Amino acid sequence: MNTPMISPNVVVCDSSADAARYVADLLASAIRSQPEMILGLATGGTPVDVYRELIRQHREADLDCSRVTSFNLDEYVGLPSAHPQSYRYFMQQHLFKEAGFSSANTHVPDGMAADLDQYAKQYEQLISQSGGIDLQLLGIGHNGHIAFNEPGSAMESRTRVVELAEETINANSRFFESTDEVPRRAITMGIGTILEARKIVLMATGESKAAAIADALEGVCDPSNPASALQRHANAVVVLDPPAASRLGS
Ligand code: PGA
Repeated sequence: MNTPMISPNVVVCDSSADAARYVADLLASAIRSQPEMILGLATGGTPVDVYRELIRQHREADLDCSRVTSFNLDEYVGLPSAHPQSYRYFMQQHLFKEAGFSSANTHVPDGMAADLDQYAKQYEQLISQSGGIDLQLLGIGHNGHIAFNEPGSAMESRTRVVELAEETINANSRFFESTDEVPRRAITMGIGTILEARKIVLMATGESKAAAIADALEGVCDPSNPASALQRHANAVVVLDPPAASRLGS
């Protein structure tokens, strides 16, 4: 691919709490200026404080999320929406219910769909029919994955069913009773899908993400390193705390 490389903007905040506030403010100001925006959302430990701050702004500062349409990045295959570790459940608990989203406007891939391949195509269509994602929030895995695009995923990949990497299963086992309970497959937006968002905000905190961040921003841009895809996006910002930024420029 001959896409020119563009370095994402990097913002290093003073602490992980400041990073969460910074990201929440980016999302909140986007919602305030475009209340019917299309927002791409992420799950995991990283966005929890971002969502808490959005809820606070909804309650205390008139942030109206009722007309936002949201699309989540991914979902485990085989977990029903009522399962406490499903990403639909996570989003209901950590954001949608408390921040006044209208449930008809929130989309999380359905990991229980009878025909997952067909469903993945429909999810893509739904995103395009909505006009495309205005702002996509992302985390990053220790192995550089974005959403569940593990190393080896094509830069042009679309929403599809994937096998989770062993590292991801181990990292996510902290949310389950045991590693055996972590689903082995997921449905995820592709890297190509994510790159079509008009703006991308990737947040990472903690020393354990430092190597993945350095590789994403300063390493080669290829499928061995999914987050390096951001080097191809003209409007991406990476928001870090000092430990996550500690290996940059070395
Ligand atoms: P985490 O996950 O926020 O729980 O660290 C991020 C990711 O795997 O994308």
